Amino acid sequence: MSKVAVVFWSGTGNTEAMADLVAEGARTAGAEVDVLQAAEFSSAKLDEYDAFAFGCPAMGFEELESDEFEPMWDDVEPGLPGRKVALFGSYDWADGEWMDLWKERAENAGVSIADAVIAKDYPDDEAAEACHALGAALA
Ligand SMILES: Cc1cc2nc3c(=O)[nH]c(=O)nc-3n(C[C@H](O)[C@H](O)[C@H](O)COP(=O)(O)O)c2cc1C
Repeated sequence: MSKVAVVFWSGTGNTEAMADLVAEGARTAGAEVDVLQAAEFSSAKLDEYDAFAFGCPAMGFEELESDEFEPMWDDVEPGLPGRKVALFGSYDWADGEWMDLWKERAENAGVSIADAVIAKDYPDDEAAEACHALGAALA
């Protein structure tokens, strides 16, 4: 059975709802899933999992959350090339540029992004389905 880590930061619960949907999709597809806060995760845990979904909303000015998520991402990114990785997160007033920048950063570091899902505010039905599919693809 494959083991999937869903690692997220969420200030007001929208990305957390996405994390739960991703986990549900992966579990339905047969994976064992751990859902972890960004502050609970580090590069030392990478070898415990077969696949990873990282979730962070658009913060700052089209940026990752800087206190907990970005330091964790800085730590894990060098260990992610060659692993199965997907990204997700919620935004509000822009058009998802933070996710394009995040994907670009990851790909420049040699990380292949299997899938990326964004949701405006709380995930609607379409975003919920996309989160399920993202989880299933990692399972
Ligand atoms: C400090 C702060 C910065 C934000 N920056 C952006 C931004 O650059 N672009 C954007 O589209 N939304 C931005 N937002 C909106 C959040 O991304 C949006 O409310 C999102 O749904 C929050 O997700 P969460 O509930 O998982 O925390 C910002 C919100 C806050 C509080």
